[in-house]
Amino acid sequence: MKHANILITGATGSIGTTLAKQLSAQGIAFRAMVRTIDDNARALHALPGAEVVTGDFNDAGSVAKALQGIEKAFLLTNSSEHTEKQQSDFVDVALQAGVQHIVKLSQLHADAASPVRFLRYHAAVEEKIRTSGIDYTFLRPNLFMQGLLGFRDPIIQQGKFFATAGDARISLVDIRDIAAVAALALTTPGHAGKIYDITGPESLTHTELAAKLSTALGRPIQYINVAPEQLLQALSRAGFPSWQAEGLIEDYAHYARGEAAAVSPVVQQLTGQAPRNFDQFLLDYVNLFA
Ligand SMILES: NC(=O)c1ccc[n+]([C@@H]2O[C@H](COP(=O)([O-])OP(=O)(O)OC[C@H]3O[C@@H](n4cnc5c(N)ncnc54)[C@H](OP(=O)(O)O)[C@@H]3O)[C@@H](O)[C@H]2O)c1
Repeated sequence: MKHANILITGATGSIGTTLAKQLSAQGIAFRAMVRTIDDNARALHALPGAEVVTGDFNDAGSVAKALQGIEKAFLLTNSSEHTEKQQSDFVDVALQAGVQHIVKLSQLHADAASPVRFLRYHAAVEEKIRTSGIDYTFLRPNLFMQGLLGFRDPIIQQGKFFATAGDARISLVDIRDIAAVAALALTTPGHAGKIYDITGPESLTHTELAAKLSTALGRPIQYINVAPEQLLQALSRAGFPSWQAEGLIEDYAHYARGEAAAVSPVVQQLTGQAPRNFDQFLLDYVNLFA
């Protein structure tokens, strides 16, 4: 395997880890940036083709070291009030380091004028990359199917999960399909200057998700639609910082307005495979809810 010229940030997170495994399985060398050498970092290091370096978005020097010799970078971090600055600083360092292409994990409907703070910060970072002159590919996924794992405890303990999605349809997507598109953008030509909306193959309501989960588990699971104030309180009790909790309320209001229902052809067009539907997701994940 040749020396890595691809950097994966957010490598210990859900998409980053999946992307690292997919690149490794394809025999493609990559470097993973991690904050600390913990068990997740050691698991990454054990993948064939992986190099692991420490780097923190809050420490430009460490990011500059992580980017030495890198041509293409996958940019991802979790959402916080610091993310816009962290990702913007990353772009400055990448420019100095001679990075040629940034594949940024954004979100469906990223928009500077959105009432959803996550969509505004993603749009601001996209604009920063666009004006930097570095080649870009923006990956804009819809709600992750794996997000249902966040409701694992109430599903197991009460047979219920709670949100504010109403009866809106959402074309939610499996993160393995997002990672597959990221892998292609990082390793094959023709993706510079492209914006990819990434969704699953069908649009489902949360009540339909509950029905499918009930069938997969063989016991009734109910979706309970709650008021935004109730969800905010629950998120605060669960320890979410207020910026993130309020952002999730805004995000779910966007879903409830039916604004994330459209199905995109991107996964099929780029990978040649239909994106996984929710039944396929459940086949692989149902044991985690049992
Ligand atoms: N959830 C959804 O349904 C959804 C839908 C569309 C878009 N998105 C977007 O998806 C992204 C989140 O993806 P994900 O679920 O894969 O994230 P995740 O699992 O929360 O992982 C976040 C990663 O960022 C790393 N990180 C955080 N702060 C860092 C820092 N200061 N320096 C270096 N690394 C840092 C974390 O490292 P540690 O392990 O050290 O913490 C971790 O590897 C967000 O941009 C969100 O807007 C989410």
